[in-house]
Amino acid sequence: MEITAIVLAAGEGKRMHSRLPKVLHPLAGRPMIAYPVAAALRAGARRVVVVVSLSSDTLQGELSSRFGGRVVFAVQPMPRGTGDAVRRALPALPRTGTVLVLYGDTPLVEAPILRRLAAQRARRRLALALLTAEPADPAGYGRILRDARGRIAGVCEERDCSAAQKRIREVNPGFYAFETGFLRSALARLRPDNRQGELYLTDVVARAARTGRAVSIASPAGPLLGVNDRAQLAAAESVLQGRIRAHWMLRGVTMRDPAATYVGADVTIGEDVTIEPGVVLAGRTAVGRGCVLGTGSVLTDTVLGEETVVLPYSVATQSAVGARGRIGPFANLRPGTVLDDDVHVGNFVETKKTTMGRGSKANHLAYLGDGRIGERVNVGAGTIFCNYDGFGKWETVLEDDVFVGSDSQLVAPIRVGRGAYVATGSSITDDVPAGALAMARARQVNKPGYAKKLRDRLAAKAGKR
Ligand code: UD1
Ligand code: CA
Repeated sequence: MEITAIVLAAGEGKRMHSRLPKVLHPLAGRPMIAYPVAAALRAGARRVVVVVSLSSDTLQGELSSRFGGRVVFAVQPMPRGTGDAVRRALPALPRTGTVLVLYGDTPLVEAPILRRLAAQRARRRLALALLTAEPADPAGYGRILRDARGRIAGVCEERDCSAAQKRIREVNPGFYAFETGFLRSALARLRPDNRQGELYLTDVVARAARTGRAVSIASPAGPLLGVNDRAQLAAAESVLQGRIRAHWMLRGVTMRDPAATYVGADVTIGEDVTIEPGVVLAGRTAVGRGCVLGTGSVLTDTVLGEETVVLPYSVATQSAVGARGRIGPFANLRPGTVLDDDVHVGNFVETKKTTMGRGSKANHLAYLGDGRIGERVNVGAGTIFCNYDGFGKWETVLEDDVFVGSDSQLVAPIRVGRGAYVATGSSITDDVPAGALAMARARQVNKPGYAKKLRDRLAAKAGKR
């Protein structure tokens, strides 16, 4: 059975009150439109024709990079209604077979129900099979009209409904399987005779019903939710989060408080990972087996090796951490941070474009930007890599086994040779040879008994004596 799909995404989405097109609003980190397209592909569609508006470069880019050539585009220059939108996709359809039509604002639909819909259409040689549902609140949906014998007769858009029709509980969630030839001829006959002056795809339903070759399949409303406003966007996000969390919990992830855990759709999590409340895992983050993620940690596009512990309130973005790392609490790993195995980065340490070799540690209060740090290096508390001179960014290199004493500044570009010591409180401006001790601070002077003299002088100055 040949299946094609059309997904409509050229509408304005006025009810979102947004500069971003509705179908590009993210859900679990992916644009809304990616979900119905993925569901149609998984349901067996050879090709998905997405109907887009003129200004849709971002949308096309997103979909092409995710799905490649199986997704093609048709342009609807003006949003003249869902019927007009489907017309635009017709040239990209094969002559015969089943065509699934769905709306780009229905992110919760899953493949099996679409497969069933298409199979019914084909098996019974119908002009149309469509889903119907009875949501708790039918507001906003087209209502299903039935004849005296209970057969489907058509769809009435809410705006065009009489008071009595508005009381109908059964709605059109917007999932159709058409016979391609029927769809072509029915669309050709659409007229914009409604309150909005649009061409309604839903008017095709009455036409199919008159041929006696239309059936409806009742289905639970939840997964067919249409997103028209931000409240429905939040409802959809919450359903998707529930699905994603269940997926990972069934694969060995402990979530201390699942409802307080946010996991993006492109995240992967290993077995025996423990996630404390309030963790956010976004982008293409990958968490290795046995990691522990502390409360308030936010990881975006970050890879963690096995058994790494992220202590509370740490942030990592576009970074990679090896196995058995220890990060935080309150660490900030900025883009380009690459930590080898057994590295410790402690509280109030910020790294950026910095690599740290195996077993190296920066446990407290440091800024390490544009650094290349070898193995077994100890970076003392309060160390600053002075990487920026107002014009360029320069590199600090600490070779293996270097020890940097607390409260030191390393003015880049600079290199500290293997095994060297930097004395506490130094401002290092010249390269340090391997094995050397570098001291760059004033020497200490002790003046015996001088404390009393000093106090007397200061008190006299303040007029206290
Ligand atoms: C539509 C249905 C309604 C159904 C509801 C289910 C019609 C006329 N109405 O109403 O019966 O209950 O979905 O969610 O079909 N679009 C275009 N071009 C346009 C207009 C819309 O591509 O000219 C796209 C939109 O981007 C959107 C989808 O079609 O993805 C649906 O449009 P929307 O305005 O949300 O329709 P509803 O009012 O929800
Ligand atoms: Ca809608």
